[in-house]
Amino acid sequence: MNAPAQPAPVPRHLAIIMDGNGRWAQQRHRPRLVGHRAGARAVRRCVAFCLQRGIQALTLFAFSSENWNRPQEEVSGLMKLFLRALEREVDTLHQQQVQVRFIGARERFDPAIRARMQAAEALTASNTRLVLSIAASYGGRQDITAAARALAVEVAAGRLRPEQIDEERLGAHMALADLPAPDLFIRTGGELRISNFLLWQLAYTELWFTPTLWPDVDAAVLDQALADYARRERRFGLTTDQIRSLAPEPHP
Ligand code: FPP
Repeated sequence: MNAPAQPAPVPRHLAIIMDGNGRWAQQRHRPRLVGHRAGARAVRRCVAFCLQRGIQALTLFAFSSENWNRPQEEVSGLMKLFLRALEREVDTLHQQQVQVRFIGARERFDPAIRARMQAAEALTASNTRLVLSIAASYGGRQDITAAARALAVEVAAGRLRPEQIDEERLGAHMALADLPAPDLFIRTGGELRISNFLLWQLAYTELWFTPTLWPDVDAAVLDQALADYARRERRFGLTTDQIRSLAPEPHP
């Protein structure tokens, strides 16, 4: 009798750069904000997909620290979209047992948005089905810099010696420190870059790129990413033989 087929490994943590909203709108001769609105609908589909597939953490790059430099009209339109999404979506996410978090420099957002972010986090804090982290005004270098500064404060106060600083201690001060590192990173929209997303956290992450523009992303595209991921061998710096002798799969 054949051994039962092993289920294909599903990433525990998926991180996505949602690129291509502007081009999606331009292709339709519509303002860029129409693309962002379509992007918000794709976010909903993506959350539903993660819940269906048993993915435990989803981190989305919604707004980078550099995006503040976009035309003022686009920035303020995006802010309205974020506020509306926070007002409309959070109850549903809560019902779906999704925990919502925000990472990034939230002090740069309007008080109304900050208050909604905090309320969403408080409402959903004890949900455990899916941790949805929204990176907003986020930058990976900023994240690393803030962690380094936090340790420097400890050293200056005499609570920590420089030689006690190691990867674990630095990593503990980084965003998402309590989650497993992303297993799979997806970037839509055809660019082959990490663009200052989770620089520290992506060290061993499998990278997957698609030309599909974010508003066109659906379960079929995401399943393709998962199927490719399931075929990859994650070695974390070891040899294939070492990996095969280790069970279950190691994670750094
Ligand atoms: C990148 O496309 C997308 C953004 C900068 C914004 C992402 C925002 C959303 C998907 C809207 C809703 C999000 C949440 C979390 C409610 P781009 O504008 O850079 O596209 P382009 O490369 O085609 O110009």
